[in-house]
Amino acid sequence: MIDCQNILDKTYQKVRAMENMGAVASYIPELAKVDPAQFGVCLITKTGEKFMAGDSDIKFSIQSIAKVLSLSLVLSKLGDKLWQRMDFEASGSAFNSLVQLETENGIPRNPLINSGAIVICDVLISELANPKEEFLKFLSSITGYEVNFDPTIAASEKEEGYRNFALTNYLKSFGNIDNDVEIVLDFYFSLCSIKLSCAELSNLFLYLANDGVHPKSKKQVISKSNTRRINAIMSTCGFYDEAGEFAYRVGLPGKSGVGGGILAIHPGKYAIAIYSPRLNPKGNSYRGMKFLERFTSKTESSIF
Ligand code: DON
Repeated sequence: MIDCQNILDKTYQKVRAMENMGAVASYIPELAKVDPAQFGVCLITKTGEKFMAGDSDIKFSIQSIAKVLSLSLVLSKLGDKLWQRMDFEASGSAFNSLVQLETENGIPRNPLINSGAIVICDVLISELANPKEEFLKFLSSITGYEVNFDPTIAASEKEEGYRNFALTNYLKSFGNIDNDVEIVLDFYFSLCSIKLSCAELSNLFLYLANDGVHPKSKKQVISKSNTRRINAIMSTCGFYDEAGEFAYRVGLPGKSGVGGGILAIHPGKYAIAIYSPRLNPKGNSYRGMKFLERFTSKTESSIF
């Protein structure tokens, strides 16, 4: 991409100069402690070029971005059988909404809302002998770098996790959770607690920009067709009730987390990660959305 560092720097400076609106997530007490002014970006191309600005090496809690990683693992294990337990339709609702589950008999709308990601944790617990260890091993095998859970963040979320306990109990009442609710949520909170920097996050996710193969480690993480499916699900479901807005303004498959991270993929070209912890009312990074809208406009890299 021509002049990528220049466009990245200019976009970064422009967004940095704007008022930093929104609020840091506080329903997970540990997340409320971060410095709201942190702002970093890293883009890595599938050919290995790397462009960075700001706090691109500061680690943050990736939260819901981890749902794409658990979806990658479960799809490679179960294939289409996964869709007996959930759908792959846009929800148009908040990430932690309970309402659709009632009328849809405990079948989550998609794997990227909390209910879908919790069912995936249940499936992985049934499929794997040591789910937490094997999940971390799967992540570390992608790049060769170690990835770990953050027990303080996981415990902090559990302490106030009434909504996710309600969702999981409700799913279980429909027969869509096989394992113990506490065990399923312990795994789910651990996934969400993973901390990575923008540089690490964009590197980890490069397989989604390269037909399922990580271009540096050469590991075939998932199949080519599962890569296409996951990118499709990210573009329709990655931003919950703001998925349309993200497709319209940014035009890339992506996933956000309440820790303030956004990960987006240009299939065949690059992975980009942005971190800025103030969130807009839909729970997505305020500056992350602003940055990506400008960046994909300037680089003309919307996929649409
Ligand atoms: O379950 C939760 O509420 C959080 N661990 C994750 C939510 C999240 O990141 C939603 N993303 N924007």
